[in-house]
Amino acid sequence: MEFSGDTLIEIRGLKKTYREGTVETAALRGIDLSVRKGEYLGVVGKSGAGKTTLLNMIAGLDNPTEGEITVGGERVDKMNEVKKAVWRGRNVGFIFQSFQLLPGISLLDNVMLPMDFCGKLNRHSAEKAAELLRMVGLIDHIHKVPSEISGGQQQRVAIARALANDPSLLLADEPTGRLDTVTSEVVFEIFEQVVSRGTTMIIVSHDHSLAERTRRLIRLTDGIIS
Ligand SMILES: Nc1ncnc2c1ncn2[C@@H]1O[C@H](COP(=O)(O)OP(=O)(O)O)[C@@H](O)[C@H]1O
Ligand SMILES: [Mg+2]
Repeated sequence: MEFSGDTLIEIRGLKKTYREGTVETAALRGIDLSVRKGEYLGVVGKSGAGKTTLLNMIAGLDNPTEGEITVGGERVDKMNEVKKAVWRGRNVGFIFQSFQLLPGISLLDNVMLPMDFCGKLNRHSAEKAAELLRMVGLIDHIHKVPSEISGGQQQRVAIARALANDPSLLLADEPTGRLDTVTSEVVFEIFEQVVSRGTTMIIVSHDHSLAERTRRLIRLTDGIIS
């Protein structure tokens, strides 16, 4: 396969069919997509279009039914689960619509978790986590637990956590879906900052105003790029 030096993601003929008993759902029906290093890509599409499925495939969170996914020169679809988990932890940050912070521990500990998971925890980790929380404007709250802060603040913690291992790729699934307009604005400003540092970023959303945010936009309709 042709793999030019500035390509980060190369997807060819990607299909995903979910099977539940005798019911089959074709979520992705043949996706070809290249993403360059440092690109800021938005993917819009209605609910059920396959956006989450596509993002999960790129992150190696689920396996394709057919097709190839290469990220940073590595065939994600060919890695075994252990290799994938290690690769993902080191290279990919993932931001979910529902934040998914651990409830019982401090914001600082939440941001340090991915470092621990990757065996990167060291005496500088707390300082680094605090620095990330400062970047998202939460330095005064680092010892609070998630229930003590607002939804918008929780999403900012989730962003800091996603950046904990300096991922080259940041993926966000409807990151402002649960936030009000003003809070969403803050989140998009942080994304701008992350992209300006050279991180490749993909955001998926059903909200077409994403077009005003990202540098490139594609549309997904019934599992096909339209
Ligand atoms: N785990 C699953 N099992 C069965 N069907 C699924 C599963 N996840 C998603 N689907 C189906 O696949 C299609 C695409 O879903 P999804 O990728 O979540 O779309 P979007 O994120 O754009 O709303 C939908 O029809 C959805 O119902
Ligand atoms: Mg979705």
